[in-house]
Amino acid sequence: MNVPFVDLRAQYRSIRNEVLANIQQVLEKCNFVLGEEVRQFEEEFAAYCGVRFAIGVANGTDAIHLAVRAAGIGPGDECLVPANTFIATALGVSYAGARPVPVDADARTFLMDLAKLEKALTPKTKAVIPVHLYGRIMDMEPLLELARKHNLVVIEDAAQAHGAAIRDRKAGSFGTLACFSFYPGKNLGAYGDAGLVATNDPDLKARVEALRNYGSPQKYHHPIIGFNSRLDTLQAAVLRAKLPHIDAYNAARYESAVKYDRMLEGIGDLVLPQIPARRSHIFHLYVIRTKRRDALQQYLGREEVGTLIHYPKPIHLHGAYEHLGYKEGAFPAAEQLSKEVLSLPMFPEITDEQLGFVAEKIREFFKGR
Ligand SMILES: Cc1ncc(COP(=O)(O)O)c(C=O)c1O
Repeated sequence: MNVPFVDLRAQYRSIRNEVLANIQQVLEKCNFVLGEEVRQFEEEFAAYCGVRFAIGVANGTDAIHLAVRAAGIGPGDECLVPANTFIATALGVSYAGARPVPVDADARTFLMDLAKLEKALTPKTKAVIPVHLYGRIMDMEPLLELARKHNLVVIEDAAQAHGAAIRDRKAGSFGTLACFSFYPGKNLGAYGDAGLVATNDPDLKARVEALRNYGSPQKYHHPIIGFNSRLDTLQAAVLRAKLPHIDAYNAARYESAVKYDRMLEGIGDLVLPQIPARRSHIFHLYVIRTKRRDALQQYLGREEVGTLIHYPKPIHLHGAYEHLGYKEGAFPAAEQLSKEVLSLPMFPEITDEQLGFVAEKIREFFKGR
């Protein structure tokens, strides 16, 4: 047996007819740029997310960039980002000319540690960008409280959290703005790059719409310098076919996480992810911790079990952010996580046999066989 880290083909096979029918419609109409499927998907995703407006953009990184810009943040401003996140969270801030300021992780949840947020504030801090990392929604009430207290704009990075919710309120509906990625491996994935900004504010909606389209609220009129960052119509057509299935996909991931947890409990020094309330974690990634991470990963690789590390370096230790001036030791929890985390195979269609095989190989490794 081999267990890939992600298997996109299994899902494609199950929704092939819906996807192909939607793609064919675009091809028949030849409305390739900002076609009506983009508007339809925006409306459908906004309704799903529980926000007034959704604006499709080219990818999740651009979603962050354009959201930061739309919020009026730029050179001289600072935005708080988690030290433990994918680099795109910080890149979006940099593209807008502002400075990303990392905040250490909570070693228990892997998310931004709110207890450390206030220490990172300066008079230049304009926004906080919480990331619902691995699919686990941040505890938003205390974060919104802190943001109100310090007059910060909240821009959610929900790239890994489509459909994650606190009770009935979904990720992406808490912030002034929220950003999604539909990179193919995401819980809601396109068949190429795609992204989206969500907001309840009509002025911000208009600004993001102009920014994604050459700074043009009206054809050939350009009051601001914008970008070419539109959600592709073909990708919108694919996403429309997949959106009705997202809750089922998320539920299947959650069930698999519960099974992993049962099978892996008590093995070696493994620290398993907590399984919080259903829907508050949609398990984009199932991330375990062990001091023997690198050896375990190599062992699993030899046994044809695909794994990845999310992420091998925290934001401040990348060459790209050397100029921020942080040294090793600046964010100890995030640094420790980067040495110990390992993401196991996780996708909605993963079978019990595959889950069992992964768990068995992990048990074998710790038994020293
Ligand atoms: C947390 C996070 N933020 C931002 C992004 C950027 O999205 P994209 O790859 O669509 O640019 C990703 C995904 O890649 C992500 O995981």
